[in-house]
Amino acid sequence: MTTTTTPPSSGIVVSGMRPTGRLHIGRWLGALRNWIRLQHERRCFFFIADWHVLTTRQEDTGDIERNVRDMMVDFLSAGLDPEKAVIFRQSAVKQHAELHLLLSMIVPTPWLIRNPTVKEQARELGLVQAEDEASMTTLNYGLLGYPVLQAADILMYKATGVPVGIDQVPHVELTREIARRFNHLYRPVFPEPDALLTEAQKVPGTDGRKMGTSYNNAVFLSDPPEVIDQKLSRMMTDPRRVRRTDPGEPFDCPAFNLHRIYCTPEEIEYVTTGCRTAGIGCLECKRIMIKHVVAELGPISERRAALEARPEMVQSALEHGNEQARAVAATTMEGVRDAMGLGS
Ligand code: TRP
Ligand code: SF4
Repeated sequence: MTTTTTPPSSGIVVSGMRPTGRLHIGRWLGALRNWIRLQHERRCFFFIADWHVLTTRQEDTGDIERNVRDMMVDFLSAGLDPEKAVIFRQSAVKQHAELHLLLSMIVPTPWLIRNPTVKEQARELGLVQAEDEASMTTLNYGLLGYPVLQAADILMYKATGVPVGIDQVPHVELTREIARRFNHLYRPVFPEPDALLTEAQKVPGTDGRKMGTSYNNAVFLSDPPEVIDQKLSRMMTDPRRVRRTDPGEPFDCPAFNLHRIYCTPEEIEYVTTGCRTAGIGCLECKRIMIKHVVAELGPISERRAALEARPEMVQSALEHGNEQARAVAATTMEGVRDAMGLGS
């Protein structure tokens, strides 16, 4: 497995995100915050992966336009900068579909059937039985084959690094195999990209379960500071602390996951001792963390307000990115067609 947590300072970065609704802080901490850092260091292409949403939601496409727009607002207010990174929408760059088609010619089906992430997704959707590889052949082609589309997304911009969470590493691995095969069969066109592993930050929802848009337990990037404050003040804590005088254990406290991400070592020390000795109350404890979260997300909320007042700016920023991406994609596709003997 080729993964690295310290990206080299040169090279091209590509990553995409499925537009499935407003971003919650799990996705902010798990991906977007990292993209914003990378845009200052590398040539970056970040995109809204709207075709990928169709792999599992093909009957219900009514909210795609709104979700794409919301995601662009989330991106811009979070600090992705269209002057630094190319920010675009996948379906606006049709070359992704062409490259997907051409790459599909050189991908043996077993490479797809054994993909552990697709298997897991199909299992969660109730489409296949656990450990039954044969049932993978009953999936829609689009779902089974989406890692090839993802390889096209990545190779289109000749990425050398792909920031992703651990679940996406098999797709980057497949991308490498496809690149190798293409380069060998035709001519060397594509670099083999590395996965740039984004450290998983465990952020549970306010009720202690997994944070999810549909669980009514998420803190959204688009929440105003007072709502963030309110949600986190009520966030679940160690159930042992029924009364103020009952001691607790931070490691059994959902809220404490946020302390670990946001607080200074001194604060962690203070909170840990205070919790175990019942020296502080939960609200006082959470206030220490909330202050940091609100300080980080407050400016995002302000930029959002400015963007909401000028919706045409959001649209034109996306158009600008789409055009830049199309220009690079057109050049790549010339090279690909030429290597494959397809003329232009
Ligand atoms: N499949 C990715 C996800 O679900 C999104 C994605 C699509 C992506 N294309 C990509 C990520 C290319 C990195 C590179 O999160
Ligand atoms: Fe969690 Fe802090 Fe309450 Fe302990 S004192 S249970 S760490 S909120």
